[in-house]
Amino acid sequence: MFSSRTSWNFSANDLTKKKAELFQNGRAILDLTETNPTKSGFSFPFTEILSSLSHSENIFYSPNPKGNLQARETICNYYTARNISVSPEQIILTSSSSEAYSLLFRLLCNVGDEVLIPKPSYPLFEYLAEINDVQTKYYHLEYDGSWKIDVENIKENISEKTKAIILVNPNNPTGSFVSNEEREKIFSIAYQKSISIIEDEVFADFRFQILARSAGGLDFRLHKPPSSNHKPLTFLLNGISKTLALPQMKLGWIVIDGDDELQREAIARLEILADTFLSVNTPIQNALPELLLFRKEIQEQILLRIKSNYDLLQRIMFNSQCSILNGEGGWSGIIQIPKIVSDEQFAIKLLQQENVFVHPGHFFDFEKDGYIIVSLLPQKEIFEEGIMRLKKFVEENFN
Ligand SMILES: Cc1ncc(COP(=O)(O)O)c(C=O)c1O
Repeated sequence: MFSSRTSWNFSANDLTKKKAELFQNGRAILDLTETNPTKSGFSFPFTEILSSLSHSENIFYSPNPKGNLQARETICNYYTARNISVSPEQIILTSSSSEAYSLLFRLLCNVGDEVLIPKPSYPLFEYLAEINDVQTKYYHLEYDGSWKIDVENIKENISEKTKAIILVNPNNPTGSFVSNEEREKIFSIAYQKSISIIEDEVFADFRFQILARSAGGLDFRLHKPPSSNHKPLTFLLNGISKTLALPQMKLGWIVIDGDDELQREAIARLEILADTFLSVNTPIQNALPELLLFRKEIQEQILLRIKSNYDLLQRIMFNSQCSILNGEGGWSGIIQIPKIVSDEQFAIKLLQQENVFVHPGHFFDFEKDGYIIVSLLPQKEIFEEGIMRLKKFVEENFN
């Protein structure tokens, strides 16, 4: 009765089963995978956030497939603060960046067409591609003290069917930003081959260094536009699930850029795709101008947390059998562990012995064992205790 694209394996993996079992037995688990910012003990301006949703205009339905103009103008101001010039005409609102991916796959790909995605990265893109009948091919990020995109690998993996290269900037969980040099090369390849770029920058505002350099001052000069006029068709994805740490509010956006004619055509087609669903609710669109005023206040708290947890991670693991891979930002940390058992077995044993929950590297498509991933969002007490237990666990079991 069902489509083959939904014939998933529903059985839980061993790690998830173990977690559920321990939880049922009443064990208090330190969850170092928690990336839900609404459950991480931040003190956001809750009253103001809630009152922004009671705009008197919310009672009227005035659908606009691109999203309401004021909300789009507010997003332009967000980019102006980052020294990026964007017009409201280039923006389409979506209910999330995940939905934005779906619309873009519908826009760009026929059944069986391909998109290139980074490896390692967040395990979302394959599902989004699969449910839109799109094939994924990987390109590698290599680590040699810092993460670099293997641009040659991108070239090797381009085929007649490739419709888009997905850049995740910064990537999750590596926390690595796309360098200007990488951007120049990849944009040039995409332009020559008439392939679009989908640039996911949902974590762009969370760069560790900014805090160190300017004590919380936010500097948003992330994008150096490609120096040539030969711009590929580009779709920039972002949203308030990370930018304002409000995933429950469901608002994302796409900024469309590139050669004038292609850009116009892409916007016209996307407008009809968006019009088919009109999925972005009115209250959040009306609230956006007010909500974005809290960006600095919200982001400063998160930046402080991720930076101090990252520092803590490095300090605790200094001179241990584990090392921390260098990241530049984002909400995750990568810990290199002794490669004696598989990452999955390591995570299960750690959970069983120390009640600490982490993600094995393969969850994020690490090809080799020897890595676990932790979220940098948990409150200090939880994070510090969890990492101390992890260190003790490694000392006791892998010496
Ligand atoms: C890199 C990246 N892009 C997109 C998303 C999805 O974000 P949204 O909540 O806007 O759908 C995630 C989720 O964590 C992510 O890590």
